[in-house]
Amino acid sequence: MAITASLKLDDKEYPLPVIVGTEGEKAIDTRQLRAASGYIAFDQGYGNTGSCESQITFLDGDNGILRHRGYPIEQLARYSDYVETAYLIIYGELPNATQRKEFGLRLRKNAAVEMQMQKILEGFPTNASPMAMLSAMVSALPAYYPDLATNNFEKDLKNFDLAAAIAISKIRTMVAMIYRYTHGLPYMFPKQELPFAENFLHMMFSEPYQDYAAAPEVAKALNLVLLLHADHEQNCSTSTVRMVGSSAANLFTSISAGVNALSGPLHGGANVAVMQMLQSIHDEGDDGTRFIAAAKSGSKSNRLMGFGHAVYRNFDPRAKIIGDACDVVLKKLGISDPLLDIAKNLEQAALKDDYFVSRKLYPNVDFYSGIIMRAVGIPMNMFTTMFAIGRAPGYIANWKEVASNPKGRIYRPRQIYVGAQKRDYTTIDHRA
Ligand code: SDX
Repeated sequence: MAITASLKLDDKEYPLPVIVGTEGEKAIDTRQLRAASGYIAFDQGYGNTGSCESQITFLDGDNGILRHRGYPIEQLARYSDYVETAYLIIYGELPNATQRKEFGLRLRKNAAVEMQMQKILEGFPTNASPMAMLSAMVSALPAYYPDLATNNFEKDLKNFDLAAAIAISKIRTMVAMIYRYTHGLPYMFPKQELPFAENFLHMMFSEPYQDYAAAPEVAKALNLVLLLHADHEQNCSTSTVRMVGSSAANLFTSISAGVNALSGPLHGGANVAVMQMLQSIHDEGDDGTRFIAAAKSGSKSNRLMGFGHAVYRNFDPRAKIIGDACDVVLKKLGISDPLLDIAKNLEQAALKDDYFVSRKLYPNVDFYSGIIMRAVGIPMNMFTTMFAIGRAPGYIANWKEVASNPKGRIYRPRQIYVGAQKRDYTTIDHRA
């Protein structure tokens, strides 16, 4: 039986339909509100507004639940790997053996990046933001694959499988190229025989005469980090991909916009900010109290990075998984990282501090991810590009939902104008 909400306004009543999701989430459908009442709903930052119905990821922020196509993140982290989870997120089902083989082959065949793209990269100074370089290279993909990026939903969906494989595989290669370029190293070309993570590590760390052979635990750790970043519902950058895609912009162009949104320190850039924070605490011999005290000032620029979340009001399940994995990975690699101890002490101190407890601020995915990436040998300024590799399947799946929605509309939020009211032009000699 349909549920209806009723809104009383200016002595009138407006019935509003209620939408109920498969996990019992409820929304008041306000699509007809403005036409019926002249009012719009207002929700700065959309924290209480649903922009779409989606079948990809379910988040329960109060209970720290994260599922991709119904599969709990804890099970995927334990039993799956990044490529298989990418397939699940994009196509909606875990692949059978044939599908997994074909998908892996598509990724391997499309791992190489066109030589001309090196010129885009080399147009940047070597100290430029790796995320700026990445978004520039991704936004150039339509020029190399015009048939896959026609900016016509119907045509682009016909070639979606290849475009998706190109996006996932080449973003990974581009990140390795950015590392090599910014470190003055010759590019390492992908090896088709290597699995996804091992190929990335090869392109990052092999030398012209000495291949880098990834230790199994290193490849496993990298798979875990990428898998845990694969999708996360309507976060800032994924919503950006949907927003840009809603204009019928192609997959690559939409992902490039998402990469730019991800680069912000309040979002994907937080993993770098966390490590800078931990390193600063370490270098000053502090035990974190200074940072915690500063974080309680309430100013956005002093926040305890890696803490808090726009949705989770409980532990971010990914943070727990990565935090547990840190000990295992570092032990297997024979590494002891003082920043891990500092992170743990900081977590314990914050979780006992009423400021954080009262605001339900817990560690998020970025709090520990940098520890593992550092252990694997990824330099800190590349951490956010690693997030972009991980998130590519989520961007792709969300773009596909927008592109294939027959009732889809261009994203065009409204506003409440609070500026100057009507006034007449004055010539310059009549102005104060
Ligand atoms: C990611 O959305 C996603 O799903 C993102 C992500 C994904 O997978 O895509 O999960 C990845 O972006 C994780 C978040 C990474 N960012 C950080 O770690 C940066 C530090 N955290 C924040 O700045 C903050 O918590 C946000 C941006 C993540 C969330 O901000 P909100 O939801 O807008 O929270 P808010 O600003 O309304 O804060 C509520 C209160 C405020 O205090 P009061 O005004 O009530 O007194 O909590 C305080 C804030 O000052 N607060 C913090 C804090 N985060 C929020 N205070 C200190 N340190 C923090 N980290």
